[in-house]
Amino acid sequence: MPSAAKTIPCHIAIIMDGNGRWAKTRGLPRIKGHEAGAQAVRECVEACGELKVEYLTLYAFSAENWQRPKREVFSLMRLLEKFLKEKTPELIEKNVRLQAIGRLTDLPKRSQQQLHKTIEQTAGNNGLTLILALSYGGRLEIIDGIKSLLRAVELGHIDKAMIDVEMFSKHLYTRYYPDPDLLIRTSGEMRLSNFLLWQLSYTEMYVTPKLWPDFTKKDLFAAVEEFGSRQRRYGVVE
Ligand code: IPE
Ligand code: IPE
Ligand code: MG
Repeated sequence: MPSAAKTIPCHIAIIMDGNGRWAKTRGLPRIKGHEAGAQAVRECVEACGELKVEYLTLYAFSAENWQRPKREVFSLMRLLEKFLKEKTPELIEKNVRLQAIGRLTDLPKRSQQQLHKTIEQTAGNNGLTLILALSYGGRLEIIDGIKSLLRAVELGHIDKAMIDVEMFSKHLYTRYYPDPDLLIRTSGEMRLSNFLLWQLSYTEMYVTPKLWPDFTKKDLFAAVEEFGSRQRRYGVVE
């Protein structure tokens, strides 16, 4: 655990990248990398629980990932169902509440059913909120937010003159959660890949060359430690 655990981020978001490369270096099929990645999720959830992080958002499947080979997409959806089914008792035991963001109705029916089951079964937990981003795209989320706002204007619930940053935030998938304080991306890529475009405006970024299946509790603690040394200015001069 970080020694000077002075500043623990309230919300950590992670782009879990590098499963395919992890498998490739071992001469394994990509799905084996995804399976190993699911184990890393467990460590991460545990570490966040220990640190008393309130929200952990994991980028598990992007809106663009549907364009991957059918076989990989199918395996990823099966893995999601298996992960949720197997881990639900553990989530309950660890007092974790599961939530999800993204165009969830694009997921196969079976995945949706398991997802909603786990969400329901963990709804009463008040420890870590674990948010899975599934079929998630930042630009799509903004479009959906605009449509939702327009509907509210049409219905006369709001006047368009009232629209501001705070109100728009309330029309996004993330309306119930604070913006992330810390963004972690594994596998060394220096890009957002359409993740939480609106919410990451003032988030501290931490990129590690480690591939996601190799990411351990210790790595998460190291990221949090580094976060503690950052000076957040939000554009103002002190
Ligand atoms: C991240 O690992 C998991 C998903 C996007 C579902 P990748 O599958 O992107 O692995 P690399 O980037 O090809 O190594
Ligand atoms: C981002 O990783 C999506 C997830 C981690 C789920 P990708 O591997 O899809 O992103 P790119 O293609 O490297 O930008
Ligand atoms: Mg990738």
